[in-house]
Amino acid sequence: MKKKYEIEKNFPFLRDFIFRIKEQFKNSSSSIHKARNEIKNLKHDDLNITAKSFKIPNFFNRLIYSFFRKSKAKKSYLHAAKVGDFTPKTIGYIEFYENFLLNESYFLSEYFKYDFTIREPLLDKNFKNKDEIFRAFARFTFALHEKNIFHKDFSPGNILVKQKDEEYIFKIVDINRMKFQALSFNLRAKSFSKLWANDEDLKTVSNEYAKIYGVDKELFTKKTLHYSRQLKRNMNFKKRLKGERVVD
Ligand SMILES: Nc1ncnc2c1ncn2[C@@H]1O[C@H](COP(=O)(O)OP(=O)(O)OP(=O)(O)O)[C@@H](O)[C@H]1O
Ligand SMILES: [Mg+2]
Repeated sequence: MKKKYEIEKNFPFLRDFIFRIKEQFKNSSSSIHKARNEIKNLKHDDLNITAKSFKIPNFFNRLIYSFFRKSKAKKSYLHAAKVGDFTPKTIGYIEFYENFLLNESYFLSEYFKYDFTIREPLLDKNFKNKDEIFRAFARFTFALHEKNIFHKDFSPGNILVKQKDEEYIFKIVDINRMKFQALSFNLRAKSFSKLWANDEDLKTVSNEYAKIYGVDKELFTKKTLHYSRQLKRNMNFKKRLKGERVVD
């Protein structure tokens, strides 16, 4: 069976490990997340590795990914080089092919020891230092945007936070859908919609963002709230059509 892979230059010693990733992954019981894809923490000597196993696509998409488009694992890897220090250290990716069609694929990064994701202060009204975290998060997002990095899936579970002394360190994950371009005022305001934040928290974030961006706070916050409410309305409309429960 054919495989395609790339490994970051700092991790040449992980070549065999990556070749054996299917067994390693199957035999490990340390699943940290399982939805469409599965994430597991693996160990190699002292190195903590987070491996993301992508769901095998349907037949049609296997064709597409094999001949026309890059796999999500490969995209994550290529994007990571551009995202740099804003994402956990990249290790590599590997794709396994069967009869010329993409089968399993994995993306590996170094495990980032985070304390919480941004979902927690967003959901818990009494989260310690909540507003301070949101302001630090606004500054992180601004720094990301200034480097022309736009995360198309900037949702709460994809934003990891670690507290270090008085500081907060943020990392983004799930980076197979990104855009690299100078960001307009509107796109910056729109970038916070997927947080699904309440108005009060969103205001805290967007006021801080506007301050460093050097634009009118009222105007920027109005836009941010507008896009967020618009997304909620659209998503809730779709949910109601499907007869699902609407939360916010
Ligand atoms: N390098 C990493 N270090 C620490 N934790 C990580 C790392 N990568 C992923 N995680 C954890 O795994 C969770 C899910 O990862 P990720 O967002 O990539 O997968 P996903 O949401 O299942 O992806 P998708 O939306 O494509 O199905 C994150 O919220 C985080 O808790
Ligand atoms: Mg995710």
